[in-house]
Amino acid sequence: MLQIGILTVGSPAKMRVERRLIDLPVNVHGVDLSPPDHTWLPENCTLELDDITRPWTWNKKFDLIHGRYLTGAFTESEFNDVYKQAFDHLVPGGFFEEMEGDIGFYCDDNTLPEDSVLADKNHKAVCFKASQNLGRPLDATEHMATRLEAAGFINIKVRHFHCRYISLEHKLTNFQIQDYKVPIGAWPKHPLYKEAGRIKHQEVKSGIEGWMSFLLTMFAEPKWSTAEVAELLRKYYKDLDAGYHIYQRGRRVWAQRPFDA
Ligand SMILES: C[S@@+](CC[C@H](N)C(=O)[O-])C[C@H]1O[C@@H](n2cnc3c(N)ncnc32)[C@H](O)[C@@H]1O
Repeated sequence: MLQIGILTVGSPAKMRVERRLIDLPVNVHGVDLSPPDHTWLPENCTLELDDITRPWTWNKKFDLIHGRYLTGAFTESEFNDVYKQAFDHLVPGGFFEEMEGDIGFYCDDNTLPEDSVLADKNHKAVCFKASQNLGRPLDATEHMATRLEAAGFINIKVRHFHCRYISLEHKLTNFQIQDYKVPIGAWPKHPLYKEAGRIKHQEVKSGIEGWMSFLLTMFAEPKWSTAEVAELLRKYYKDLDAGYHIYQRGRRVWAQRPFDA
């Protein structure tokens, strides 16, 4: 049977949920800096602990290399280097795919009040500037396509997708709507989106303390005190639980290594 080799970078959370991989003719290698918080993996999956900004030592080539939510993980030159190494580790004609989100909160139906911390554009700018000071700007969505082109990829396609859970359904059904959303909270009516929103809400609520504390106390100008961050988090938790119809935006890019490269 044809076996497809997949490398997924920055991967533990993804591999945990991919139980369906076990039924597919694929061998999946996952690589991450830190060990997963679970022990079960599909038997056709291998998880390795390594730093993908260092020279890749796999002596095989992959049919697909995939990454998701790596924004903020790398400097610009590290991103360029990861794409170049991905190019070199793909079979001719193989694909690279990446999905990323930006750092804003959006709302289409005015349920989000203008004075909410979630709608505060100045605060978003402060966080973004802190990520620039860190040397790892949270703007991967803006640069993925041009960096892939610079690494030699062709047939680069970009799709704004606003719900990562729905994007798979999108592919399977050839459903041609481009404007998906990653809902935050169980506000959507559709059961699939409602479940996606519940999970995303949990992810944001559990991550926000670490993200804000790290960026604002160490890299903002001026640096915030822990008391200031605690006050900010109080506003976040209140507004995240307020039932506003909020979502985040995402972007998906895929590209091909030329057959003759
Ligand atoms: C935001 S998480 C995304 C996880 C998963 N891809 C998903 O979409 O659920 C980013 C992951 O990238 C990993 N990571 C960051 N820098 C890395 C590096 N230099 N080498 C390998 N993994 C790295 C982190 O440890 C983390 O697990």
